[in-house]
Order: sequence, then C-alpha cells, then structure tokens
Amino acid sequence: MSVRIFVPKDASALALGSERVATALTREIEARGLDATIVRNGSRGLHWLEPMIEVETPEGRIAYGPVKASDVASLLDAGLATGGTHPLCLGKTEELPFLKNQTRLTFARCGIVDPLSLADYRAHDGLKGLERAVTLSPADIVTHVTESGLRGRGGAGFPTGIKWKTVLDTPGDRKYIVCNADEGDSGTFADRMIMEGDPFVLIEGMAIAGIATGATKGFVYIRSEYPHAITTMTQAVEIAHKAGVLGSSVLGSAKAFDIEIRTGAGAYVCGEETALLNSLEGKRGIVRAKPPLPAHKGLFNSPTVINNVISLASVPIIMDKGPVYYKDFGMGRSRGTIPIQIAGNVKHGGLYEAAFGLTLGQIVDEIGGGTATGRPVKAVQVGGPLGAYFPRALFDTPFDYEAFAAKDGLIGHAGITIFDDTADMLKQARFAMEFCAIESCGKCTPCRIGSTRGVETADKIAQGIEPEKNMALLADLCNTMKFGSLCALGGFTPYPVTSAMNHFPDDFRPAPLVEAAE
Ligand SMILES: Cc1cc2nc3c(=O)[nH]c(=O)nc-3n(C[C@H](O)[C@H](O)[C@H](O)COP(=O)(O)O)c2cc1C
Ligand code: SF4
Repeated sequence: MSVRIFVPKDASALALGSERVATALTREIEARGLDATIVRNGSRGLHWLEPMIEVETPEGRIAYGPVKASDVASLLDAGLATGGTHPLCLGKTEELPFLKNQTRLTFARCGIVDPLSLADYRAHDGLKGLERAVTLSPADIVTHVTESGLRGRGGAGFPTGIKWKTVLDTPGDRKYIVCNADEGDSGTFADRMIMEGDPFVLIEGMAIAGIATGATKGFVYIRSEYPHAITTMTQAVEIAHKAGVLGSSVLGSAKAFDIEIRTGAGAYVCGEETALLNSLEGKRGIVRAKPPLPAHKGLFNSPTVINNVISLASVPIIMDKGPVYYKDFGMGRSRGTIPIQIAGNVKHGGLYEAAFGLTLGQIVDEIGGGTATGRPVKAVQVGGPLGAYFPRALFDTPFDYEAFAAKDGLIGHAGITIFDDTADMLKQARFAMEFCAIESCGKCTPCRIGSTRGVETADKIAQGIEPEKNMALLADLCNTMKFGSLCALGGFTPYPVTSAMNHFPDDFRPAPLVEAAE
C-alpha cells in the first residue's frame, strides 16, 4: 500500500512555505519512483513547528518540522517514508507534549483527516451526530444541546441551547442558520483552522442546528481575509450536497437543509451579529438596535440562529456522545472544552484545546513556554482587541467565563496575546482607542466620538500634558463608552484601556513636558 505523507495546506503552514515543501516532495517522490501519496491536511496547531509534515507508519504517525523545501531530499535519504531518523524528526506526533496533553473534542479530526474526503470524515466518527439528530424531534435535539452546557464561543458565552429554543419556538415561514466566521479578533484562528482542516464538522453542526430549529437554509459568513477557508468550505459544501448530507433530504430523511458561503467585506464590526445580518442582506454593516433579537427577527426579518464556527462545530460530538459526556469537562458554568489560541510574543504559539479551568499561568508559562524573545512576560491580552490586559499577578485566574469577568476581563473567542517587558502599555491603551475609532460603525456617539477623544487624550498623557487631568478624562471616557455604547465594540474597548491603566500605572506616568508650541 502506498505510504501517506501529510503536508498541511492550512494558511499558517502555507505562509511558512508548505506549498514549496509539497512541490519538492512530489518531485522527489517521482524522481525516486517511491510509492507514496501526499495528503494535504489541516494543521495540528503547533505553529512554531510549521510546516510540520507527518508520515503514516504501522506505529502511528511520525512528525518532522519545521521543514523547508531544501530539507526534502535529505529527509527522503534518511528514510522519511518509513519514519526514519533525521535532525528534524520530532518523534510520534501523538506523543508531542503540546498535543498529548490536550482534550481534543471539537478539533478531534483537525490535521488528521484529508479535509475534503467525506470517506475519511466518516471513518473518523464524522456524521454520527447528524445521523442521530435526524431520528430525534427538534425539541429533543435542543434539549441535548441545552443539557451539554455549551455556550457561544464567539465571545458573549450565551447558552447555545436557549438560543436554539427561542428560534424553534418562534413561528416563521422561513428560518435561517447563520454561521459567524468573521473571526476578526487579533490573535485568533480557531474558526479558520476548523474550516480549513475539518470543514465537514461545521457543515454537520449547521445541519443539526437547522433540523433542531426548523431552518432549511444556512449561510456561512467568512471574512475576505480567509481565502483558503472560503475555497475549502465552498468545495466541502459541494461535496456534502452531492453526497446527500445537504439538500432536500438530509441523509435520506424528510428534512431539508442547504448552505451558502458568503464573503465579508473586511470590517471588524461585521462580526457583531446584527451588523453581520445587515451585511448579508447587502446593506451597510451597521449595528441594529435590539430588540428585536435575531432569534425573533433576524436575517430578512425571519427567526435566525447566529452562532460562531466553534459553537456549531462542537455540536456533532455532543449529539454523538451525548450531553453528559461533553458536560463532564470544564468548571463552574463553563462546560466542555475551549480551543485556546496562543499568539503574540510566545515560544510555542498555536491552538490548544482543553477543558475549561487551566490557569492563565499554565497556558502562558507551561504550554506556551514563555516569550519567544526569552524576556519576562509583562502582560497577556485575553479575548482579542476588546479584552483586558492581565499582569502576572493575575496568572492564577482559571480559564472560565465567570472567573475572568470577576477580574474585569473576558475570555471572548479565547485568543491570548502575549507581550514581553518591552511593551509600552500606554501605547497599547492608545491602540485600543485607535482600533475602536477606525472600526466603529458610527451609529452611537460614545463609541464614535469617545474613541477619537480617547486617542487624543492618550497622546496628551504620553506628552506629559496635564497628566492628572487627562488620566481622569481617559477614565471618564471609558466609563461613558462602557455604559453608553450600543454594542460591545464601544462597550468593551474600555477593558484594554482601564486594565492597562490599573495594572501598569508606571507606563502612564507623565514624561517630562516637552517644550513645544502647545
Ligand atoms: C464588534 C464585535 C465583533 C464581533 N466579532 C465576532 C466574530 O468575528 N465572530 C463571532 O463569532 N462573534 C463575534 N462577535 C459576537 C457576535 O455578536 C455574536 O455574539 C456571536 O456571533 C454569537 O454566536 P455564539 O453564541 O455562538 O458565540 C462580535 C461582537 C462584536 C460586538
Ligand atoms: S458601539 Fe460603536 S460599533 Fe457598536 S453600535 Fe455604537 S458606534 Fe457602532
């Protein structure tokens, strides 16, 4: 049998040269007359080792990385096809500590299967959840999801089952499932990795959501900056349709469900659910006032489930293994697993799926291995650009929605960005305000004007102009934005700003007043 060699086609691996590696490998295999097949898989999520290639052996997969095209000949000379030793050999993939210690439920297949092979998907427990769902009543499916404790992974942590029940209970000629794949948070990539590495799990999750709520049509709204995810998802939907997983009779049942892929236009605010719905309808991406909730009047005024990629991709395993299996992982009201995305100035960046409850210190120091520069960690921003900066003093905070909220932080989409001691937190606070000013949809004053005034005020603090007055003004602006903004863009921008001010006051001490024309 032909030996299978896995070369990831995930965007992070491509960015690091995996296409060149695949080309060189194809050429060398041909030239040497080897009986080997190259499978273009997703990433395993060990980004510092990308491109990480693997070979299937009777003892399991053996990994090599990071591999350059120029390494290919020597790898084959060393017996790559049989898992031979080589300086780039990392040993058995499953034994790599970063992977071995994870609890991969949502990402169980990512990096393992051929993303566009439905047969491979089925061979790795794919479609079992949907097969079960088509035998259940909508209310029973909703009960399963509710009992699993799954909460939305897009940021707000709203219980998924309750959202689905609202749509199920709302009458409507047409209902929709909208998958939010805008993934605009800095330092996050879990949605992209699933769409590129295991697209059928998202399709399966959306089909289950459709059957559970009475929706027959789904849209995946993917940010334009994700061309590879768009291509893979488009191909996967076509394959699923041809195979009868989607269409007028889902898996041969009396239920219909179809999916269309839509591309976003590149605005951060279009990740906010109501702005996203406007964008999907072809309107300007501006936030809608709530009520009405999208569950009552969403896309084209119809009852709509809008869920994050990871929320939907977590449903198949819940339907397959049961709600209790999923709920057994986690802590407090944060049940199941969470794909933590470790980024920024870090030694071992990548995706780490674990049950809720790891402390921030474990994630940064033990799993991430500290900074890439080797300098001390100064701050960690958790939850994307609207998340708070946590100092080392808060590293005992467990990864849990309520525990982070209790420390004036948020988990958001579970991206963490690490900074070493050279980071200037005043600059970071200014950046938060600037980001909000650029990305604001402009609908409400605290966000539209407050963020611009915030940038000006941070600049004055940096220049040493009336420091006490301007620090008070910045705090006041944050207060107004937090409580007066219509959506979380304006409402949460104060989190990075006030956390920087409170935890790193030295960075806000006035520089000597510049003798200038002020
Ligand atoms: C400014 C802003 C940007 C957002 N961006 C995203 C995003 O990129 N992806 C996402 O899933 N949710 C995003 N959200 C949250 C969504 O509004 C919404 O809560 C989420 O899609 C609901 O899905 P869930 O319940 O599965 O988390 C954003 C919210 C705000 C305020
Ligand atoms: S807070 Fe900002 S982004 Fe949100 S509605 Fe108001 S202006 Fe728009």
